[in-house]
Amino acid sequence: MSAFVSVSDDLVFHLGNGHISYVFQASQEGILEHLHFGQAVSLTGQLPRKPRRLHRSCSLFFQDVPYYNLNDVNQECPVFGTSDYRQPAIHILNADGNTIQVFKYQSYELLNAKPSLESLPSARAINEQDSASIKVVLVDEVSQLSLELNYTIYTHHNVISRSARISNFGDNTVALKSFMSSCLDLPADDYDLLHLQGSYGRELHEDRLALPKGRFTIDSANGVSGNVHNPFLVVMAKDTSEWHGHAVGTSLLYSGNFSISTEVNEFDSVRILAGINPFNFSWQLEPQQSFTTPESLQVFSDQGLNGMSQTWHAFIREHISPPAFSNMPRPSYLSSWEAAYFDINENKVLKLADRANNLGLEMLVIDDGWFLGRNDDTSSLGDWVADPNKFPNGIAELASMVKTKGLKFGLWLEPEMVSERSQLFESKPDWIIQVPNRKLSTGRNQFVLDLTRHEVQEYLFDRLDDILSSGNIDYIKWDMNRSMSELGSAALPADHQQETAHRYMLGLYALLERITQAHPHVLFENCAAGGNRFDLGMLHYMSQSWLSDMSEPIGRLPIFNGASFLYPPSVMSSYICPVPNHLNGRMVSLDTRADIGFFCAARGVSLSENDVDADLNDLKEVISNYNNTAPDLVTGRFYRLKYTDNEVCWQLNSSDGLRVYLLYVHILASVNSPFPHIKMVELDRRKNYQLLDNQEIYSGDALMHMGIDLPYSSAIQEPHGDFLPKGDFVSRLLVFTQLA
Ligand code: DGJ
Repeated sequence: MSAFVSVSDDLVFHLGNGHISYVFQASQEGILEHLHFGQAVSLTGQLPRKPRRLHRSCSLFFQDVPYYNLNDVNQECPVFGTSDYRQPAIHILNADGNTIQVFKYQSYELLNAKPSLESLPSARAINEQDSASIKVVLVDEVSQLSLELNYTIYTHHNVISRSARISNFGDNTVALKSFMSSCLDLPADDYDLLHLQGSYGRELHEDRLALPKGRFTIDSANGVSGNVHNPFLVVMAKDTSEWHGHAVGTSLLYSGNFSISTEVNEFDSVRILAGINPFNFSWQLEPQQSFTTPESLQVFSDQGLNGMSQTWHAFIREHISPPAFSNMPRPSYLSSWEAAYFDINENKVLKLADRANNLGLEMLVIDDGWFLGRNDDTSSLGDWVADPNKFPNGIAELASMVKTKGLKFGLWLEPEMVSERSQLFESKPDWIIQVPNRKLSTGRNQFVLDLTRHEVQEYLFDRLDDILSSGNIDYIKWDMNRSMSELGSAALPADHQQETAHRYMLGLYALLERITQAHPHVLFENCAAGGNRFDLGMLHYMSQSWLSDMSEPIGRLPIFNGASFLYPPSVMSSYICPVPNHLNGRMVSLDTRADIGFFCAARGVSLSENDVDADLNDLKEVISNYNNTAPDLVTGRFYRLKYTDNEVCWQLNSSDGLRVYLLYVHILASVNSPFPHIKMVELDRRKNYQLLDNQEIYSGDALMHMGIDLPYSSAIQEPHGDFLPKGDFVSRLLVFTQLA
């Protein structure tokens, strides 16, 4: 069934696709009441549920309407202070100093195609049949504001996307204090919550808890979506597991200060608000001006968390990732970062290129250290010209030398930054995010360029365009290594200063849009000191993202596992690091480094010439496997089968189901432990599968319902049986082929 939006005579709005329904209604007072987000319903009879109109002791009536208390009403766009005192979706300072608005339903318009957002990333429409969209208009006559709520439902994905736009048709400027992208009020029930939290080097760790009464917020205020909380939150029934139960996931196409919050009120109803973080935000909305929120996405799953992840993964691949690359196998690569850090030059690069070639790798990436005077992290960001002492022939010439060796060429850049020691900062000291008369906090000896300014965007576009126009650059790693502090822009008047962070994002998105359009063949990778800005906004422009500087695979397990709740392997990037690892000093075998890295679509190594030579033959085998399986990693379906403190099991099925990859990781050696086995998922139960390791053939239903024995890890090993190597941090990647 194609996605549809229907509107009944009594103004019940129904967005459906045969799997899910999203239903709301305009009440007789003009309030948009939320009725349902979940499994598909047909609205042929009376509505069995709607907000109750009862007199509760001690409650208010909305305006003069008897028994209508907005605190008891699930709403699409709640405001503050008219009988509902939960967090509102909109909070505006009117010209006369109060913050009261009442948005009442005015009209609706069914849209032919999913609109894209002005100046902001949004889910892409593929064709007219793949989605159905509606715009609902509400008005507050007193404040003279009109509000558009935009909804889209998709034919093939159980996703609702939403954004809102407010326009000032009065004569006075108002200040938007809070304007959220979506509000979803869920009925009272016993819920759990899941979100992804962490810090540098340990991003995206899963955290599940009982949904608390009161408010729970994940957010960021440092100018980026951040590594403390990823913009993603799930509210689910208490009994929801990886494979069973109901879950609602929320995420944002936004890379700046965001907030996603839950609120459980005194009657246990649950409000989920998502949008720009209202903290330290204020936007002057002048007469005849409009403001559009970022897009919010909400997924409903009745097949547990894995079911929810399948929806996110497919949706991101089809509607968010840049279409030119979404099905393109990513080149395996050698990155110079952990191979050489800043100590890089033409000779070294050419030698690394020879090693890369010999290993069968497909691309060489110079990660940092290549531009004017960049010998460590104390200087040079902003001066995007090759250092003549290291690269006497320039980058374009080097790229062409690397390419004659049969490799693609990639380059690292950190465009949004400027070092205090740089020619750019010397000539343009006011081009940075700053406030007058305050010392700036420093981070990695660099400042954030003020992308709210048009001239800064122009400078960066010209510099990047120059570099990319040499024509020899296939890939850019776009890094961003500090967050914002002393937030302000020298280019904005005082009453617009609190717009700086959002204007920065608009400037960044404009730059990304322009540069990716101008160079459509360049593969872009997003990075921000690892995963400090890993979000759907960046992934709209960039096909892949560096997950974390935690390149050691055991430290990466919870990062990848957490990320996979939302993000598909097709957007993730990793490499085989040297040992001991630079962040945690851990020694992990090449096998385990290769096996865990396998599950990212962009895979490579960051090894010095000596490291490469030491493991040459084994590495060749790993790289050949990476190259052969690259198409499956961009289009395949990924499942979390097991995640405990000591064991991890993941499965990936190629999109045609013909190849199945099963990873088993045993973290710390244990003695005499139980025999491990796992039930595989989503196989064809009528087909047989052959395991590459021993050529044994198993039926799909036996692998799924009996499960398969996994290799045993034990410090005591008898001569018989399938063992993992002795010791800690061991793994096995099992590869199955479906037989005809
Ligand atoms: C931080 C990134 O996360 C690393 O991968 C590397 O690119 C360095 N920056 C380079 O300075």
